[in-house]
Amino acid sequence: MEALDMPVIAYGDGVGAALAGLGFTRAADGIFRDAAGRSFAQALAGPVVPKALARTYGCQMNVMDSETLLGQLATLGYGTTDAEDEADLIFINTCAIRGSAAEHALGEVGRLKALKQERPDVLLAVCGCLTQMPETVRHLQRYAPHVDLVFGTHNLHELPQLLHRAYVGEQQVVDIWRQSDAVVEALPSLRAPGARAWVNIIYGCDKYCTYCIVPYTRGKERSRRPGEILAEVEDLAARGYTEITLLGQNVNSYGKDLAGGYDFADLLRDLDRVPGIRWVRYMTSHPRDFTQKMVEAIAASDKVCEHFHLPVQAGADRVLRWMNRGYTRAAYLDLVASVRAAIPHAVITTDIIVGFPRETEDDFAETLSLVEEVGYDNAFTFMYSPRDGTPAARWADPVPPEVKKERLLRLNDRVYAIGRAKNEAMVGGEYDVLIEGPSRKDPAVYTARTRGNKLVHVPGAPGLENTFGRARIRRAHTWTLDGELVG
Ligand code: 5AD
Ligand code: SF4
Repeated sequence: MEALDMPVIAYGDGVGAALAGLGFTRAADGIFRDAAGRSFAQALAGPVVPKALARTYGCQMNVMDSETLLGQLATLGYGTTDAEDEADLIFINTCAIRGSAAEHALGEVGRLKALKQERPDVLLAVCGCLTQMPETVRHLQRYAPHVDLVFGTHNLHELPQLLHRAYVGEQQVVDIWRQSDAVVEALPSLRAPGARAWVNIIYGCDKYCTYCIVPYTRGKERSRRPGEILAEVEDLAARGYTEITLLGQNVNSYGKDLAGGYDFADLLRDLDRVPGIRWVRYMTSHPRDFTQKMVEAIAASDKVCEHFHLPVQAGADRVLRWMNRGYTRAAYLDLVASVRAAIPHAVITTDIIVGFPRETEDDFAETLSLVEEVGYDNAFTFMYSPRDGTPAARWADPVPPEVKKERLLRLNDRVYAIGRAKNEAMVGGEYDVLIEGPSRKDPAVYTARTRGNKLVHVPGAPGLENTFGRARIRRAHTWTLDGELVG
């Protein structure tokens, strides 16, 4: 098969031309302004600095997309706010992964109807994975006329033009791209301040697990070019970020669509050399594409953290086959063994779905035994949620919901007990940590994270935020550890 090489669009050029057509050019302060000196935001939304708020649901990919939306808005002259009553522009960035996430986001859209009635000038936008589903668009057109703008996951870079259309009075602007063939580079991003930054390396997913909506909402896999990623990470290092998390629905597929055979292991090796970056994380990996070369690259690197999130989803081979996961239980266990052989102290976590259509008690018992066998530090467990448009949603499912619920509870009991035992084994040990900042409950207690991504609470004081230290673990809980800084 010939390797594809995706076209790359430079955001700045495209948006510059589009905004020039609307009468705005980039001023010396980096903000697009009209001939009278008014920013795009002021010209459209009002004389003071209008403020934008993004409510983000779902995964880290959506968090990054919201940072990109706010980054673009900054170049248009918008400020940001967390308070709804101060906001002039509100985004609901939706998630479609499970029914509960979808209902939550749409509930929020419904709730904002009252705000829109009270303050009709507020612009409401709905975006994210749910809007890629035609039934959501139909729902919003029919039941949510108070929403001004609906766009999707493939046309974030069109935000200025979309906003312009929404402001100049088009009723409900709906613009969804079904697919994207391009990677748009150099989108401005308003990153959360601190030590940690997120960097997209691959968009979309081609795996078509039979339960999963993501390939339909995020499109096919498109890798960013290594040079663009390295330049972005170097820039982040120059701006003081010390930990980066590489993002993709399936980071282990990185590079398959690029010419030249450069893969995720090569990228990790190159990133390991970026001065200023201390820790590198990545999510999410797919066990099927996790090669020995990648395990070796991680073992050999100083910066890539020893945390392996390896979503297994199920323990029985026939369920894995129905799910189209592309590996067997034995192959998965081989991967775990090779990780442990290369990095004995690796922290291993997973995702598990219970109650997949036709899952029997015997199938479920295999999931439980796999959990015991691997000994996960933590697992995110979900009850199967049928998603319209996916193959599994069309399959007969004789398993009653009560049975699924009961399986989930039994699974969680084991997951929690094993996770706690893993944490207890850390008591007395010392670990490098990145200190994040004061905890929500107590300003004298700081949260910190180990390379294995374990949360440690330590006594702290101002000045420790975003610094690296060493923590001795004193007590273990199911989810967190208590410790003290020893250096
Ligand atoms: N139902 C339940 N869980 C799901 N996941 C993905 N799709 C579904 C679904 N339809 C879970 C998987 C995945 C995680 C992000 O969400 O475990 O790894
Ligand atoms: Fe969904 Fe499977 Fe792709 Fe993960 S690998 S995003 S579960 S289709």
